[in-house]
Amino acid sequence: MELFLVEGGKPLTGSLSVQGAKNSVLPLLAAALLAGGTCELENAPQLSDVQGALDILHFLGARWQRQEECLLVDTGCANGYRIPEDLMHRMRSSIVFLGALLGRQGKAELSLPGGCDLGPRPIDLHLEGLRRLGVAVQESQGRLICTAPQGLRGSRVTLAFPSVGATENILLAACTARGETVLTNAAQEPEIVDLAGFLNAMGAKITGAGKSTLRVEGVKKLHPVAWRVMPDRIAAATWLAMTCASRGRICLNDFPAHLLQGVYPVLEEMGAKLRLEERQVFLAQEGRPRRVKQLRTMPYPGFPTDAQSVFLAVLTAARGTSLIVENIFSDRFRPVGELLRMGADVRVEGRVALVHGVRQLYGAPVEATDLRGGAALVTAGLMAKGTTVVQSIHHIDRGYERLEDTLTGLGASVRRITQ
Ligand code: EPZ
Repeated sequence: MELFLVEGGKPLTGSLSVQGAKNSVLPLLAAALLAGGTCELENAPQLSDVQGALDILHFLGARWQRQEECLLVDTGCANGYRIPEDLMHRMRSSIVFLGALLGRQGKAELSLPGGCDLGPRPIDLHLEGLRRLGVAVQESQGRLICTAPQGLRGSRVTLAFPSVGATENILLAACTARGETVLTNAAQEPEIVDLAGFLNAMGAKITGAGKSTLRVEGVKKLHPVAWRVMPDRIAAATWLAMTCASRGRICLNDFPAHLLQGVYPVLEEMGAKLRLEERQVFLAQEGRPRRVKQLRTMPYPGFPTDAQSVFLAVLTAARGTSLIVENIFSDRFRPVGELLRMGADVRVEGRVALVHGVRQLYGAPVEATDLRGGAALVTAGLMAKGTTVVQSIHHIDRGYERLEDTLTGLGASVRRITQ
């Protein structure tokens, strides 16, 4: 089993380019099924979740090749439409293959994603939207059997909640549907903009991406393209929070600053000095971070739920008491139990956490509970006195490319060891 050894007390200083976005490359890989040829994805991060998506594509008959950060994916012979249980359960977000398979094959059979580390992962909004496009859905023994007896047809769809995954699945199915689809209350996340850009480059006709109403005019066929995956805004938020935690200074290069507009006010309330350029973010933290009166997670452009765990970790050693309200996932406070073992003082009531900043955290053996919770434990380890041993780091490898190399390159002491 692999684990991280984190020595506290070393500030992060330096500059870096941010990895490609996990939450963009995954839907892009599913969308490649609609190309029916070889797509080239540049800046594709090397993550276990990406490998999970490539394994699904391979199972469906696609071939892929990696050249450094560039992925070549040939879906010309990808005629499968069934995804087995084990491949689905390796990664909850594989549900995004549903819309792509419907767009490509007109049918799909996969297992329900079930719950995950963050709580239940329902897909009711996905299925309601797809039904509006003419998809017949059968559920039996945890398997989902979807067909489009009369083919996919454009329709008006309104999401009860701006679900990222549901927006992606409906977009993927609508591209080659007959007629126009109008999707209201759509997710506005930048990853939706990246997906729509990729699909439009393939010949789709999507307008309104990044706003709450998307219009898709169905086309007959899409064609392969080359595309550069956008930078990972959650990884970027993680490096900024860790720099704040360790009282360092960092420059994010070639990073569109607007992607984190919901995060900067929180960093400034914590006492960070920020300078934003169009494609660069500078942050410096002098002295102990200050508390945040109220941090609420919201759909984009609000504060992203995926950055909440790491910011909670920083606030456990901030000056004062912070209130965190998690509005997106019911089980996003899982790392709190492990942070308490390091001396944190956090009270959780449902979706609210009260964080009393302590003067000093202490290194301890802790266990990563999920991807962002694992990053939170590393963040706490950067602040703690002594050594923190983070176990179950496979969670972290799902979303951060060689985390230890990135942090060591910035002056931290983080070692990956095999026990
Ligand atoms: C995507 O998950 C991201 N994953 C998540 O990142 C991210 O936290 C989330 O969007 C919110 O931004 C990927 O892109 C691969 P949702 P997704 O559908 O699509 C409820 C990470 O750490 N809901 O916007 O699953 C749902 O239960 C991951 O990188 C329904 O009720 O998120 C949740 O409470 C974690 N019914 C809320 O909506 C549905 O049909 C947001 O879910 C769908 C969702």
